[in-house]
Amino acid sequence: MQKFAPITDKLNPQIAAKKIFSLIKNEMALVETEYERQASSNIQVINYLGDYLRASGGKRVRPALLLLSTYAVGGNASKENAIRLATVMEMLHTATLVHDDIIDNANTRRNRASVNARFGNQSAVLMGDWLYMSAFETSLKERSLEILDILTRLTRKMTEGELIQLTMLGRTDIGEEDYFDILRRKTAFLFSACCEIGAILGGADKKTQNALRDYGMNLGVAFQLADDSLDFTADEDVLGKAAGADLLEGKLTYPLILLVKKKPEIKEKLDQIMRDGDYTVISRESVLELLETHHTLTETREMAYSFADKARKNLDVLTETEYRLALEDIPGYMIERAK
Ligand code: IPE
Ligand code: IPE
Ligand code: MG
Ligand code: MG
Repeated sequence: MQKFAPITDKLNPQIAAKKIFSLIKNEMALVETEYERQASSNIQVINYLGDYLRASGGKRVRPALLLLSTYAVGGNASKENAIRLATVMEMLHTATLVHDDIIDNANTRRNRASVNARFGNQSAVLMGDWLYMSAFETSLKERSLEILDILTRLTRKMTEGELIQLTMLGRTDIGEEDYFDILRRKTAFLFSACCEIGAILGGADKKTQNALRDYGMNLGVAFQLADDSLDFTADEDVLGKAAGADLLEGKLTYPLILLVKKKPEIKEKLDQIMRDGDYTVISRESVLELLETHHTLTETREMAYSFADKARKNLDVLTETEYRLALEDIPGYMIERAK
């Protein structure tokens, strides 16, 4: 397999993130204010849950991508509509997380109790729905069928991704094709939509729009590959959610798909972990050791870098600006998080 040199080699991921976000610091502050406005209601319980979700943080990668894309094509991302749509993307993302945590029966998100764990599934379903619909209502202010088209298709794809994933839970015979299909739907389409909409708002021509759409897609794949690696290697406080959880939830992610190919006899133990919902039959450390011995975490990283490389190439159509450079740095920053 081809090797790709990390671009943020000398850069600590935190420093890279600071550099990237400092370019759009004011705009991101406006997104926070807009989010607060959008997630408020005269219904007390919605206000309460909205605050709970907003205050729990998150990296805000998706709105940042939209804003950087608008600037990168020569538009002005401090305009009201860019701020509004950046907020819409974060609200859609939050809605998917709220529903995802119910589906995965997850107790922790962003270092605090998930909405389902804290307030129950009933409230979480409804709050997720409310967020989806508020996001759509806000997006309608743009009066753009082109954007609405992207947003509705994206939401359908994400739901399909979660549904397909459900049908494959607990299976150790998942192939790479299935894995990438789910990953594109549940994660990469949203990244792609952020960049495409950012380009549209910036007044980009079709070719540039498509280039940013493809950039977001490749970046999204790299991001989820990194996230799947982090599930094995990172601690809970870094992740803000339970570590080692994917396998317990019955999800065979890329590092394990590769391991099963190299060492099919491991299937039985993986099956057992998924059935038991704990690491009694083989410890989490031993699973990590196996992934390391068989180099499948390294291969996952290399795969992430191959998508990062494609993403950066998609940016070739853009004029070289500090915004383009920031977009170029994002894939590396995301993967380095996963070391
Ligand atoms: C989590 O996304 C969901 C995945 C696609 C893995 P993020 O890692 O961007 O979540 P927050 O918004 O920073 O919490
Ligand atoms: C990602 O799904 C969340 C969505 C894109 C809806 P996962 O279940 O794989 O991600 P985490 O681990 O809960 O963040
Ligand atoms: Mg989940
Ligand atoms: Mg899930």
